[in-house]
Amino acid sequence: MREIRVGLIGFGTVGSGTAEVLHLQAQRLAAKTGAAIRLVRVADLRLAALPPHLAGVELTRDADRVLIADDIDIVVELIGGIEPAKSFILKAIAHGKHVVTANKALISQHGREIFEAAARKNVEVGFEASVGGGIPVIKALKEGLVANRIDAILGIMNGTANYILNNMTDHGMAFDEVLKDAQAKGFAEADPTYDVEGIDTAHKLVILMTMAYGSHVRLSDVSIEGISQIDPIDIEFAREFGYRIKLLAISKNHGDSVEARVHATMVPEKHMLANIGGAFNGIQFVGDMVGDVLLYGLGAGKMPTGSAVVADIVDIARNIVNSAVNRVPALSWLPEKFQEVAITPMERIRGPYYFRITAQDKPGVLSKISGILGNHGISIESVIQKSREKKGTVPIVIRTYEAEESAVRKALAEIDALEVCAARTVKIRIMDNEG
Ligand code: HSE
Repeated sequence: MREIRVGLIGFGTVGSGTAEVLHLQAQRLAAKTGAAIRLVRVADLRLAALPPHLAGVELTRDADRVLIADDIDIVVELIGGIEPAKSFILKAIAHGKHVVTANKALISQHGREIFEAAARKNVEVGFEASVGGGIPVIKALKEGLVANRIDAILGIMNGTANYILNNMTDHGMAFDEVLKDAQAKGFAEADPTYDVEGIDTAHKLVILMTMAYGSHVRLSDVSIEGISQIDPIDIEFAREFGYRIKLLAISKNHGDSVEARVHATMVPEKHMLANIGGAFNGIQFVGDMVGDVLLYGLGAGKMPTGSAVVADIVDIARNIVNSAVNRVPALSWLPEKFQEVAITPMERIRGPYYFRITAQDKPGVLSKISGILGNHGISIESVIQKSREKKGTVPIVIRTYEAEESAVRKALAEIDALEVCAARTVKIRIMDNEG
């Protein structure tokens, strides 16, 4: 049986999971591929020894022993971050190696350069594990949904943020406490601000939009807000109104432009995405032929992400065995068919809003606030004022009818400048019928 030889760089959570999946599923994979997939070598700077089940696998500190070695067919990059990962991948490609990576930061920001280099050398770059961990979301978009125009992408794509919001909602836990727990469980990023400030979710949205629309979407195209401003009191109000707060990635295709945004959203509690719990991810596509499709599963972690990395290795191995390298274009579209799509400016996006204004409890305050909203054409749907807090301020919670983001920004700047306002207003968009 033909042998496909794999070299792995980075033996952290995902690297060790990948090695374990390859080891545990060796026979199954051979029966499905027609080749023996063998992990030959692991490069890692910090590791003293490989686990006993990897007997026969060489451990090296020299990345070149993987990147350019003659006895490696597929290089698996699992160190994360931009450099040296980018240089490593380009070097491997230059030496004719196929590459598999889970690196969403790199693919979302430097994917174009990497895919162009791979096309020149006729090698493959697999990145299934970069979005949605173990969920086969890239393959679904590239192959299962190939017959569709993608009209919308809606998703919970960061397990850490979802885990934090969920525990705050269900157990009334404080933000910092839950974050520590997520870090201990191994699904938070090395820099957890990427998780809580929406950056990791934006990386993933860029990758999905690029593939959905056949356009090189940039990270700077995405309007990004995180969840660090969310207070348990917002979660409580959301519950009273029948919503759950989720960090959503949203892209709607308007034909002449596409939306690109990541922000906390109040999702109706009956909506499927409101019920994605713990560290799970849920990614919904709307296709013009198929309608709604929801993919759900573990978006992070050792074995689920290892499963996705191995899926890419098998795809490449199958293509090598069948002399069909690059049978499916890496980004779904033929590279020469890529075009620019316009991004809908965030200021133009409309929807209902939740505001939590922190104001002194004095006569006339509410009328000032409602006056400002009225001046900007923002119509109030309901107002709740809870009893006075010790320091003399009250949370005034307002739900609006559909309003434009530009009007909301102007109105909130005026409200926050009022002498009676004691803190910056918290603004959360509410999912309407279409999301
Ligand atoms: N930090 C990411 C998460 C890992 O929490 O979902 C998977 O990309």
